Amino acid sequence: MADRDTEGSKDYQVDVPARSEPFFLKGSNELDWGLKNRLANIFDPSSGRTVMLAFDHGYFLGPTSGLERIDLSIVPLTRWADTLMCTRGILRTTIPPTYTGGIVLRASGGPSILKELSDEQLALSIDEAVRLNAAAMAVQVFVGGERETQSIHNLTRLVDMGNQAGIATLGVTAVGTDMVRDAKYMRLATRICAELGATYVKTYYVEKGFDTVAAACPVPIVVAGGKKVPEQDALRMAYGAVQEGAAGVDMGRNIFQSENPSAMIQAVRKVVHEDFKPHEAYEFYQTLKHETA
Ligand code: 5RP
Repeated sequence: MADRDTEGSKDYQVDVPARSEPFFLKGSNELDWGLKNRLANIFDPSSGRTVMLAFDHGYFLGPTSGLERIDLSIVPLTRWADTLMCTRGILRTTIPPTYTGGIVLRASGGPSILKELSDEQLALSIDEAVRLNAAAMAVQVFVGGERETQSIHNLTRLVDMGNQAGIATLGVTAVGTDMVRDAKYMRLATRICAELGATYVKTYYVEKGFDTVAAACPVPIVVAGGKKVPEQDALRMAYGAVQEGAAGVDMGRNIFQSENPSAMIQAVRKVVHEDFKPHEAYEFYQTLKHETA
């Protein structure tokens, strides 16, 4: 039988106030425990930032360059990603369930690259998101697009479902090819996503005024990599974004289409988590590239 508890052996430390620490992510302090715990699986609490590896492109592009064989090209990179962003089809078929970082599931879809892209609808139920242990669900928002209202409605429905289950919602600002990608547009699109309840927002970096985009958005922002550019330029973009207020990157093509994807993702980590300058990160990339050649 266990010893009886004795009053004399207890120490309540009555003079020490109860610990009450603010949560490390902007705009997330009032969220419920489960949601915060999932966010801490997306963003590294020690840097407050994330390197999300995005390879959900197939949901409208099919087997695009670098994603023909996700088992061969992406799975070896997952050890360096804080979070994976993918579709449920690829998660179930190809990603080992031993991966313990955050999973951000693509939750909208519909039209292929051959059709009007803004015509997306929700493409994931909350039960599936829970079953697949998603940390967040991602939905495309086409501010200024042909189906703007429909995509906003997708976002708000997902926020309602996600908040109930404690799963974050990532609002993805999708910019049409005919639209101007400037700070004014990004401020509008990111702020609309945040106002309507997105837990965090993905957008594109702009050279002029990105700090105002980040400042005007009350929740964390991550930046997409966009089209493949030379490694130095992608590292410069990532550096500008985090130094001007982004909480990390959600990068796809500039990693998996790089000449050396494993060196590139490690160099991006240095910029995002350790504030490496672009030239330092590029040197690091070159060193790793030559080591693995
Ligand atoms: C596709 C997406 C991608 O995940 C996003 O654009 C990030 O990938 P990339 O760095 O290649 O732009 O949301 O719609």
